[in-house]
Amino acid sequence: MKQQILAAAFISATAFAATPALAGDVAKGESVFKKCASCHMVGEGAKNKVGPILTNVVGSQIASVEGYKYGKSIVALGETGATWTEEEIFEYLADPKKYLRAKLDDKKAKSKMSFKLKKEEERKDVIAYLASLSSNAAATEEGEAASEEETSTTTN
Ligand code: HEC
Repeated sequence: MKQQILAAAFISATAFAATPALAGDVAKGESVFKKCASCHMVGEGAKNKVGPILTNVVGSQIASVEGYKYGKSIVALGETGATWTEEEIFEYLADPKKYLRAKLDDKKAKSKMSFKLKKEEERKDVIAYLASLSSNAAATEEGEAASEEETSTTTN
């Protein structure tokens, strides 16, 4: 019984830690997204434009939007199984090319996204907005909590 309580406390603590993530402002993020909207669409009826649809990007596998023709470098990163957590998107937006070069350890890696969002606040806010749209964002957190549960019951 005591172990169950401990496990439950552990799970809720980790779930809580996952929820606020970067703690951006959704409403402000919606207006920051205007900078992205020339290339990206979100929501119902969204289509791939210059860039892929971003509705479910938070929590999804990198470079996985169907029907969008990504650049080679980001495809290579997606093939490692890497996913877009809020923290990864935060790094990516500051400088997509630099991000791909660092992640792939390849000085020649290229990004089809030339746009950079330098301001930290704007990055946090736009990511909060994207997370509010994504059905994967919640699923990832539940998935993490479930795997924590397995670990804590087997080790106890
Ligand atoms: C000038 C056009 C342009 C603008 C503006 C732009 N993007 Fe992009 N974005 C792209 C392109 C093109 C790609 C595909 C990158 C590749 O294939 O290397 C991309 C890819 C992405 C990805 C990876 C998607 C995936 O499916 O893996 C994210 C996340 C992203 N953009 C977020 C943003 C956000 C948020 C903004 C606004 C702050 C933004 N982009 C502004 C063109 C743009």
